[in-house]
Amino acid sequence: MNPPISSQAKLPGRPFVAYSNGQLMVEQVVLRDLAAQHGTPLFVYSKAAILAALTAYQRGLAGRKSLICYAMKANSSLAILKLLADAGCGFDIVSSGELERALTVGAEPAKIVFSGVGKTRHEMRQALEAGVGCFNIESLAELEVLDAVARECGKVAPVSIRVNPNVDAKTHPYISTGLKGNKFGIAHEDALAAYQRAATLPGLHVVGIDCHIGSQITEEAPYLEAMDRVLDLVTSIEAAGIAIHHIDFGGGLGIDYNGETPPAADALWARLLERLDARGFGDRKLMIEPGRSLVGNAGVCITEVQYLKPGEQKNFCIVDAAMNDLPRPALYEAFHQIVALQPRDDAPVTYDVVGPVCESGDWLGRDRNLAVQPGDLLAVLSTGAYSMSMSSNYNTRPRPAEVLVDGANSRLIRARESVQDLWRLELP
Ligand code: LLP
Repeated sequence: MNPPISSQAKLPGRPFVAYSNGQLMVEQVVLRDLAAQHGTPLFVYSKAAILAALTAYQRGLAGRKSLICYAMKANSSLAILKLLADAGCGFDIVSSGELERALTVGAEPAKIVFSGVGKTRHEMRQALEAGVGCFNIESLAELEVLDAVARECGKVAPVSIRVNPNVDAKTHPYISTGLKGNKFGIAHEDALAAYQRAATLPGLHVVGIDCHIGSQITEEAPYLEAMDRVLDLVTSIEAAGIAIHHIDFGGGLGIDYNGETPPAADALWARLLERLDARGFGDRKLMIEPGRSLVGNAGVCITEVQYLKPGEQKNFCIVDAAMNDLPRPALYEAFHQIVALQPRDDAPVTYDVVGPVCESGDWLGRDRNLAVQPGDLLAVLSTGAYSMSMSSNYNTRPRPAEVLVDGANSRLIRARESVQDLWRLELP
């Protein structure tokens, strides 16, 4: 159920999305005006919200040697990347496509970490040529291949090993990555041997250690537990004579989708730094790879109600956004609040909000109380992360446009796709 929303209210957890005079705004821009100008579905992002989220991490790490690498898989639109690069961020990438995006916006290669379990030789070569700061290695096999590729290129690859701390992040199983049964990382008990092997390979230079235990984590305990496990390893790796220059704690901090109360980034880091200092590791270079917590609550997706379809068991509110634009509900049964741009005073009706795609899984919200009529505009909230970046063209649906709001100004940062764009590479 959506909580009742007064037409003057701020939306909790989203300080830059609020109603004013009965109209939903992002910063000082009326969303209805953007929909009229750019059509729907439309993604709208708040620059101030992204920078405020980044500032919380920067505050938390102030005075420390640190690097924030934005996990661009969350939202890799160039304007967002540029905003974060200009604000000093590095990037966590997982493909050569993401590498090219980062380089295109002027990212410093040394501030890029390359994650992922399946890097190809071609991708390794490209990243070596670019001079990325670190390869986060996920298996012994990858270690050997990277060594060979680096030697072929006449380079030495800076590496970190992603250790799997076997910690339960207490999140959705599809986005939990730090448990033994996951495909990610090298098991905690095998990590020392992997470092010892890495240290013997001439194409590699060990620079750090990393972990990432999952996504949409709303408690601090799993982070503290993972940190302890990683620090135990640093102690034994260094006892074996291998220096660890940086410690990368990954991303994963959750956001408020529906009343969740994740720790604020600065509060979380205050706790983590206490632990690091107590264990004598406070002077290391600290790295993090946040994605969702930087951009998730900075974005909304505007969609227009097409039809209302009352039914015996369910009422459907059919909108013009769908699972191809907003795949998280279909994939993870994820909850996104859905609110009217201009709330009506009529009595609300309970609807499943669904898209036009030919799948029963094409729903955006279930059992939502809404007072709506065809033609009304709705905002699907918290869609700055893992929405546009996971969108597809299923049902030959061109992807939405994207707009970035900055105070009272707004700017198109990605034009709506045309159908011709979709078949441009096809050969009939
Ligand atoms: N670092 C690594 C190695 C990762 O695998 C991820 C996310 C991150 C950092 C960033 O995590 P974040 O701070 O965004 O939680 N599509 C899913 C989330 C998948 C996360 C994958 N890895 C969703 O929509 O919930």
